[in-house]
Amino acid sequence: MELSKKLQNLPPQFFATLVQKTGAAVAQGRDIINLGQGNPDQPTPSHIVKALQTAVENPVTHKYSPFRGISELREAAAAFYKREYNVDIDPNTEVAVLFGTKTGLVELPMAVLNPGDWMLLPDPGYPDYMSGVMMADVNYETLPLIAKNNFLPNYNMLSKESKERAKLMYLNYPNNPTGATADLEFFNETVAFAKENGIAVSHDFAYGAIGFEGIKPVSFLQAEGAKDIGIEMYTLSKTYNMAGWRVGFAVGNAQMIEALNLIQDRMFVSLFPAVQHAAVAALNDNQTCVQEFVERYEKRRNVLIDACNRIGWQVEAPQGSFFTWLPVPTGYTSQSFADKLLDEANVAVAPGNGFGEYGEGYIRVGLLVDEQRLEEAVERIGKLEFFKKEVNE
Ligand SMILES: Cc1ncc(COP(=O)(O)O)c(C=O)c1O
Repeated sequence: MELSKKLQNLPPQFFATLVQKTGAAVAQGRDIINLGQGNPDQPTPSHIVKALQTAVENPVTHKYSPFRGISELREAAAAFYKREYNVDIDPNTEVAVLFGTKTGLVELPMAVLNPGDWMLLPDPGYPDYMSGVMMADVNYETLPLIAKNNFLPNYNMLSKESKERAKLMYLNYPNNPTGATADLEFFNETVAFAKENGIAVSHDFAYGAIGFEGIKPVSFLQAEGAKDIGIEMYTLSKTYNMAGWRVGFAVGNAQMIEALNLIQDRMFVSLFPAVQHAAVAALNDNQTCVQEFVERYEKRRNVLIDACNRIGWQVEAPQGSFFTWLPVPTGYTSQSFADKLLDEANVAVAPGNGFGEYGEGYIRVGLLVDEQRLEEAVERIGKLEFFKKEVNE
């Protein structure tokens, strides 16, 4: 049977190729230190697991959920935004419950754009932004994120035509893959730019909980007037180590939220109610676990950066997320360097070009193994002949 043209034209899934390469190396019995993935390594906190167990004992959770999620979860999302960011959210009209934010990010272009419309995407960026582009048959232009601008887009670089035709823009801070963060001033500038040009904004706050050196990442909705033109997507995957549970939400502009909900009314009957009750517990109950995760990532970050410095690799410490964005030595591309690390040091990393054209020249290293393994990974790299030669040149 012939697949639809849309499916035939899909490019290979970047992460699938990476997982396959790493898996093949592990299958050969090699001791691979896998720093390539973005899957939190710690379990979900036990009070959240218990909340799921209790909920699943109640037969009410065996029934269909209300289409737009249980009211307790929408209220918990609104209360979370008030408590954490002092942002007012109406639980009835300004929250969309999502099967993880990947779903929302892929749905949004279909929900608010027409085929042939234009959107702006950060480059480098989370690869599934492109899935949204392809599913909705829209065009995109990239916003380059470069070190010189602290990995923030420079809106002044866009042509008049680009500004006029763009209808939707994605942003993501703390940023995957660069680890950069944004401040309130940048989000205020973004709101002004978006209003001036009639562009809707979706801020992906997947790493919202993970900021280092005591700095709490800023929510886009804290910017004055942000809700007039935009939404924010928040996932429980990273904040509470719940990646496999598939639960997140979008909050903000009521029209954009309604658009997401309309698509979801047709496609799903919302999440398993027991998962929604566990998500309520995660958002409402004691938040000490979040602080502990952040401290763990910060320690790992420091170990990794110190180890890199020791072998003469000049790298910047990320300000947030659980990723580090490391420049490749001269003479290598992201891919050739990543391949060499896997082949010769048994260290798997994500080549930066998989995140976009402006990711070339970098690799992404996740802070998702313990400190000892991170240190060992860098030591292995430091011992490679080619690496010693390159960093000393
Ligand atoms: C930047 C970014 N956005 C969104 C997601 C999707 O997360 P989820 O679908 O688990 O909510 C991820 C996952 O890795 C991510 O890195």
